[in-house]
Parts: sequence; C-alpha cells; structure tokens
Amino acid sequence: MKTVLITGTTSGIGKALAEKFASERYGLILVARDEQKLRQQQVSLQNTYHVDVKYISQDLAQEDAVSRIMENIEKWKLTVEILINNAGFNECGFFVDTSFDRELEMINLHIRFVTELTKRILVHMKKSGYGRVLNVGSTGSFIPSPTDAVYSATKAYIMSFSNALCGEFRNTGIKVTTLCPGATQTEFAEKANIQNTLLFKIAVMRPEKVADIAYRKLMRGKRLIIPGMYNKLLVAFAKIMPVSITNRITIFMMK
Ligand SMILES: NC(=O)c1ccc[n+]([C@@H]2O[C@H](COP(=O)([O-])OP(=O)(O)OC[C@H]3O[C@@H](n4cnc5c(N)ncnc54)[C@H](OP(=O)(O)O)[C@@H]3O)[C@@H](O)[C@H]2O)c1
Repeated sequence: MKTVLITGTTSGIGKALAEKFASERYGLILVARDEQKLRQQQVSLQNTYHVDVKYISQDLAQEDAVSRIMENIEKWKLTVEILINNAGFNECGFFVDTSFDRELEMINLHIRFVTELTKRILVHMKKSGYGRVLNVGSTGSFIPSPTDAVYSATKAYIMSFSNALCGEFRNTGIKVTTLCPGATQTEFAEKANIQNTLLFKIAVMRPEKVADIAYRKLMRGKRLIIPGMYNKLLVAFAKIMPVSITNRITIFMMK
C-alpha cells in the first residue's frame, strides 16, 4: 500500500483529498492542528475504506514542525510516496491594517514549512526513484492581489518553487505539481472574513470536485492544475492584462 502525507486534512480541500486517496486504497498520514478532528477522521477513514491511517497533530507554522513529522515517519517505518502540501489560510485587508503576526505565520506555513518538508521528502523520493509532490497554490499565484498582498505573494512563491523543481526532476519518476484552485466552498473564506465578497459569489467550486481533478492530474504527472473553466479563463486573462487593470479588478472582486 502506497502512503500519502497530506497537510490540512481537517477541512476543505485537504479533507476531500484524504477521502479521495483513501477511496483509491492509499495509506494516509494526516497532518493538522485539531487533534480531536484528526482522531475522528482516522477512525472514519479506516472504517470506511479499510486503509492504514495515521495522524500527526502539529502547528506547521512552528519551527520544529518538519522535524516532528520526519520523526514520526521514521518511527512508523513508512515511506512517503506522495506528499501534498495543502494546509494554508488567508489574512485579508489593506496591508497597513492586517496583522503582521498572522502574515508571519502565513509565510512560515506557506513558504518555510513547504520548502523544508519538500526537501526532506524529496531526498527519500530521489533514492527510490518514484514520487509525487502536490503543492497547493491558488489562482492568486498568478495575480498580485491588492488587499491580499502577502497571501498572493506566498502563493506565487509556491508556484515558482514547484515549477523549478518540476524542471529539476524532468524525465524521472518524480513529478512536482502545483494545484491552483479559485474560490472553493470550504472554511477558508469564512476564516478570512471574505465569504461575502464578489470573489466567493461567482463560480465557487466544491472541494470534492477540486480533489477529484487534482487526484487524476497529479497521478498523470501534470505540472500545473487549474480546476474549472472559470478559473482557467481568469488565469489566462490575468496573464495578458497589465497589473494596473488586474489590480483594479482584484480590489473590486474582494469587496
Ligand atoms: N478555499 C478557497 O477558496 C481556496 C482558493 C485557493 C487556494 N486555496 C488553498 O487551498 C488550501 C486548503 O484550503 P481550504 O480552502 O481547504 O481551507 P480550510 O477549509 O480552512 O482548511 C485549511 C486546513 O489547513 C489546516 N491548517 C491551517 N493552518 C494550519 C497550521 N498552522 N498548521 C497545521 N494545519 C493548518 C487546517 O487545519 P487545523 O485548523 O485543524 O490546523 C485545515 O485542515 C490552502 O492552501 C488554501 O490557501 C483555497
């Protein structure tokens, strides 16, 4: 049984990905902070799909997060064939008004943690010659976003980093993929208090649909996954428009 490690499985896209991989008979390592939810998820997935499910309760913005994860993997004598860096959150508002502590937490989670864990896991994947890494970006990876400046910058990092690794592992059994969802019906918008914005009123996707598309394309070794026609068009539009225009549209969409 192959093992997939997924971060941020207690809700939204990560939860749907855990369900999808369990239904495809993968063993799972679930990672998030809420231990009670993780334990419930472990029991539910084991009973429904009869696969091996382990969990690690950890705040991934903490400096020792990767060491704790690696210690557990070694203790369980597991090999991670698929790594999914999905955990993330948003802090919206004009840059002078947002909380720097939250932004630093976001940089630690989206950039420092993702970079370190990917490095540690890729070392093992390189030895075995097989692996899949899915890093979750956003349509914001393509669009510098006024009133979401730090979030979109961290998501741009994730895409740039993943694209470069994809090049390093070209013609090998290891594939690195970026998933760039647009507005998706999860707890994400409510936690960031942006659930009433125009962005979350148009073409919002279900997390199960995003997870299905991601699973299929990840296993085929695609470099980039933009789920849904609306999101594909949005990204295509953003690529040809000057920043002065996308800036104005983004502010309007985030109202
Ligand atoms: N929903 C959207 O519209 C949307 C659009 C584009 C991209 N995305 C991206 O998709 C990914 C998943 O988001 P979602 O929409 O599924 O959001 P969600 O429903 O809020 O789920 C976020 C998950 O991340 C975990 N998490 C957050 N901070 C963490 C931390 N410091 N340490 C450990 N786990 C942490 C949460 O678990 P605990 O609270 O239990 O720790 C939860 O399981 C994120 O990277 C997000 O940026 C979402």
